[in-house]
Amino acid sequence: MLVPPPVDAAHLPALLQAMPKAELHIHIEGSLEPELIFELAERNGVRLPYASVEALRSAYAFSDLQSFLDIYYAGASVLLHEQDFYDMARAYLARAAGDNVVRAEIFFDPQTHTARGVSMQTVIQGLHRACVDAQRESGISAALILCFLRHLSEEEAFATLEQALPLRDQFIGVGLDSSELGHPPEKFERVFARCRELGLHRVAHAGEEGPPAYIWSALDVLHAERIDHGVQALKDEALVARLASERVPLTVCPLSNQKLCVFPDLARHNLRQLLDAGLCATVNSDDPAYFGGYINDNFLQVFAATGMTPAHAWQLARNSFQASFAPEADKRAWEVRLKSVFSDFSGR
Ligand code: ADE
Ligand code: ZN
Repeated sequence: MLVPPPVDAAHLPALLQAMPKAELHIHIEGSLEPELIFELAERNGVRLPYASVEALRSAYAFSDLQSFLDIYYAGASVLLHEQDFYDMARAYLARAAGDNVVRAEIFFDPQTHTARGVSMQTVIQGLHRACVDAQRESGISAALILCFLRHLSEEEAFATLEQALPLRDQFIGVGLDSSELGHPPEKFERVFARCRELGLHRVAHAGEEGPPAYIWSALDVLHAERIDHGVQALKDEALVARLASERVPLTVCPLSNQKLCVFPDLARHNLRQLLDAGLCATVNSDDPAYFGGYINDNFLQVFAATGMTPAHAWQLARNSFQASFAPEADKRAWEVRLKSVFSDFSGR
């Protein structure tokens, strides 16, 4: 069905919250709320350079991606044991289910942890057990994507892949994140080629702060199936045409872009233009504990700021299912649920 059942704009906020959706761009370490950081620090005897939850939260004022990453990696230092990774992921999945997320594809940064002596097994098993338990208890479908840190070398990415391969059945793909500028996708050509041979899905952050050229190389060199962020694509007409004709999904994160000063304010975010250009854009939270909101906060705030309509909401939810790596039968079932929620609101 191409056209959604009509919904009065007065119901838009309730509709945005109620509609089923997939979240495809969430760094699990970015879901660590300051309260949980302090709880884990105490549990594990880790000293934090902040006196209180409030002091930590007040340090969350960022000028660009790097200023955020410095604090984000420091926050992750409280994660030591399998149970810590489990608790973090369960907390995120409970909030996501509350936002009517039916599918979450969750990024994790193993190198942040293995560099501190935490084993790959501790990280992956804790996160995977949380995904399994959440699915059993709330029905949310959840899967893991291992991200390579692009400020480190390709050799280190290869070593990370080697460590993860014994747990190959517990993650569905690989991604590329961390400091974008100066670390173009082609730096990771060989390791992504190996991941492709292994049948892993591939995604990459590109065009968050970096130029459209990084999106081209994520597609052509890494064979990325989705682009994380990708908001700089609108600077390049030929790239927009390519993304539209191949329906390459962009996992857009409005509050992240606002907090990291990618756009001066949310009213000037280009999500609406991306959709109107026919791109398969989706809405996601990126690092919700740091950027002021989970996925529904992202929907509510970007819709309020840009005047998008129920038809845009319908498109974004459908895009999120189509862009996910879930089984086709699940995607069809979620589309049926989406239609039924719209029909409910249409009758009000
Ligand atoms: N790691 C966590 N959040 C990120 C972002 N927005 N960009 C790049 N790497 C990240
Ligand atoms: Zn991200």
